[in-house]
Amino acid sequence: MNQQPNQPYPIRPHGGTLINRVLSPEEANEWRQRAQSLPKHTLSQRELCDLEMLAIGAFSPLDGFMTSDDYHPCVNSMRLADGILWPMPITLSPTPDERAHFREGATIALVTDSGHLKGILQVEEIFQRDVKHEARETFGTDDPNHPGVAQIYAQGDLVAGGPIYLVEPPERITRPELYRTPAELRALFAQRGWRRVVAFQTRNPIHRAHEYLTKCALEIVDGLLLHPLVGQTKADDVPADVRIRCYEVMLENYYPADRTVLSLLPASMRYGGPREAILHAIMRKNYGCTHFIVGRDHAGARRPDGSPYYGSYDAQRIFDEIDPNELEITPLFFEHTFYCKKCAGMASYKTCPCGDEHRLILSGTKVREMLRRGEMPPPEYTRPEVAQILIEAYRNGS
Ligand code: ADX
Repeated sequence: MNQQPNQPYPIRPHGGTLINRVLSPEEANEWRQRAQSLPKHTLSQRELCDLEMLAIGAFSPLDGFMTSDDYHPCVNSMRLADGILWPMPITLSPTPDERAHFREGATIALVTDSGHLKGILQVEEIFQRDVKHEARETFGTDDPNHPGVAQIYAQGDLVAGGPIYLVEPPERITRPELYRTPAELRALFAQRGWRRVVAFQTRNPIHRAHEYLTKCALEIVDGLLLHPLVGQTKADDVPADVRIRCYEVMLENYYPADRTVLSLLPASMRYGGPREAILHAIMRKNYGCTHFIVGRDHAGARRPDGSPYYGSYDAQRIFDEIDPNELEITPLFFEHTFYCKKCAGMASYKTCPCGDEHRLILSGTKVREMLRRGEMPPPEYTRPEVAQILIEAYRNGS
């Protein structure tokens, strides 16, 4: 277990200052005019998510896409140019067609594939990267089957760095009121009088194992932030709109409303295991959380044959390499959790003395097959209200 850092209250943003590069409505309108005569870059889904995370301060202290003086130490030693801890590159890649317009000093309009203006990039530097080297250092593999590695291979070697502004956030799939910025969540925690807040990252519906982790953690702090990632995920992950219905039904039925906040994180998943666990923790610190849950196989990915790219607890071990006083947010580590029939409750490998024959351990694949067939998984695995939503989503072809 990591030693407890000396946390100031409220917890400081990473690097000390909460970045805000969201334009006011008047400024945004001015840029909409100006942008008509600017060269354009069509954002990938990852870049669009990153643009918002940068602008709202979730990626503080970064205020733009990385230039080479941040990029290289980040890849090689998880540091920015000024020595601040930062585990994963945040980059933007011009396409070959756009290349001619990307000159140092240029201002570029960042648009969606339907041409909608979302942001502005002031190009400071254009440089070449070695995608294989980046993949090996940050993902621990250069296998193109890895979903995070595949993304950087698709982006290519050429990257452009510089500060950004957000003209308009990405379109919300549903429930826009559930998206809160770091400044908004910080204000909400202060208003509720919560000094110690634990964040829970997830890209899945909340099953009983997740519920157990979050409630164990809530026992030792003032409040719980359910902070599902709803930006870009893999095609075979449960779609965000379906998950959001699952989160809401969990909140209505099984979580104390005065101790729990559900907010949606519009970030892109990288499936980077250990390094992404650190990124996830830093983001939640920027949102004002003091604790962060890291369970089994956090932000993991699997090969086509089903074998994992990372060891079950690699994403916990990486925190041993970091000074807790530098990270400031406290990671809370959990072993594999499950329902144990003999214990008659949720437990983990750490707390349950019984053998596997007493434990209800189902693979995600098996549960998906059951749901697809319209069968309810055991209530000790998934709450029936959640199972019902998932069964209906499968029936409707989600
Ligand atoms: S993740 O990609 O967001 O990490 P997921 O939504 O499955 O995937 O997990 C959310 C969090 O719960 C992660 O910290 C993960 O390690 C943890 N977790 C998920 N299932 C279990 C489990 N059965 N036991 C312990 N931790 C778990």
